[in-house]
Amino acid sequence: MKTLLRFSTLILVLTLFNCKPSTTVPELGTPTLPDVPMAYSAMDLPYAAINSNSTDKQNLERNLRDNPRVTDWGATLGRVLFYDTRLSLNNAVSCASCHKQSLAFADPVAHSSGFEGRLTPRNSMSIINPLLMDNLFWDSRAGNTIDLTLQPVQNHIEMGMEDLDQLTEKLAKEKYYKDLFIKAYGSSDITEEKISRALAQFLCSMTTFRSKYDNALRARDDFDSFTPLEKAGKELFFSDRLKCASCHSGINFAAQTVTGPYTSTGGTANIGLDQVPTDQGRGGGKFRIPSLRNIALTAPYMHDGRFATLDEVLEHYSSGIKDNPFLDPKFRTKDGRPKRLNLSSVEKEALKAFLNTLTDKHFTTDKKYSNPFKS
Ligand code: HEC
Ligand code: HEC
Repeated sequence: MKTLLRFSTLILVLTLFNCKPSTTVPELGTPTLPDVPMAYSAMDLPYAAINSNSTDKQNLERNLRDNPRVTDWGATLGRVLFYDTRLSLNNAVSCASCHKQSLAFADPVAHSSGFEGRLTPRNSMSIINPLLMDNLFWDSRAGNTIDLTLQPVQNHIEMGMEDLDQLTEKLAKEKYYKDLFIKAYGSSDITEEKISRALAQFLCSMTTFRSKYDNALRARDDFDSFTPLEKAGKELFFSDRLKCASCHSGINFAAQTVTGPYTSTGGTANIGLDQVPTDQGRGGGKFRIPSLRNIALTAPYMHDGRFATLDEVLEHYSSGIKDNPFLDPKFRTKDGRPKRLNLSSVEKEALKAFLNTLTDKHFTTDKKYSNPFKS
């Protein structure tokens, strides 16, 4: 088990770390689960599309190899952990506090509140097909290479060891966890490793391939179901003039490098948001090229949530690109000036209409990924 395990642990630890022990434990609910687990292991993957793109295929193969195998009970346990506020020391937040299903697991604020109300320095990310991602986090600091993800995470684990012991003890007090650990692992022993593996299974089980765009791909009917505006937007998106798809590429419309986070850029780019970036990201204001799947649901946008709407994002590409030494060459003219795309209002509407076809309502309502603590 590699990346997702370690980085889930990282998040757990981060989550646990920022807070003072609380003396009062409020009454918390227990999860309602089906007797027969839902089919997490039967993953909904568009193999035809994936197989036709070697980079997507390599990412999938590597992730399947490096992550724990998804089982129905393992992912069920992961789902409970994902939604359980007991994972925070003061029972204040769960993963889902910042990753909301109805919003493709994003948060509708620029900066999310942690435990004691302190804000995350960056915008909470949506969770989009982790099994097909090459790099994770806004600065691509987590990926699929053990060597590079290990070190920072280990540091956090060292810092958090005490807290993690407390967590396993705390979870062991709940009967539903005893039952779930037996179902997932054959034993009621609760360990940090098992917690991470279960969370990773749940994340890996998350697939979102039922958007209007996906349905059109499956139908192989030349996008007959698209409106003229959506079609025009698709043309623009994939055009040489705009080059959106040269960065937002592959099945996830995201950074797709097999080179991954262990290269200098790690699937990141500087798109001219600032003349002088305050957050350096990967270095020089370069940030992960994010997935555009479910993008209509995941406002606000960019690593710092600076844009409230897709209109603002498109206006940035149209007229707002700022010169800086790290600006991506795709946004430079031949004579070296920043290249703003000068989109007409019809072009912006078309692009927006196309981006809206990437929304998967099935994903945001699928019971498999829903909160089990709600009655
Ligand atoms: C307080 C808010 C908060 C909580 C709680 C939280 N996250 Fe996050 N999550 C974030 C932020 C912010 C980022 C982006 C961080 C960055 O890039 O520096 C992120 C990034 C991620 C990503 C990366 C997505 C991608 O495509 O790169 C995943 C997956 C994730 N979180 C899963 C989890 C899980 C699992 C938990 C619970 C164990 C959790 N998060 C708890 C705020 C939160
Ligand atoms: C050079 C690579 C590159 C090109 C070309 C590019 N983008 Fe991006 N895009 C990025 C990066 C990197 C980010 C994140 C920047 C940040 O947060 O600092 C981003 C962010 C976005 C976001 C916000 C995503 C989010 O989750 O907040 C949208 C929407 C978007 N781009 C759409 C487009 C469209 C439409 C085009 C074509 C007009 C385009 N991009 C061209 C690299 C690129």
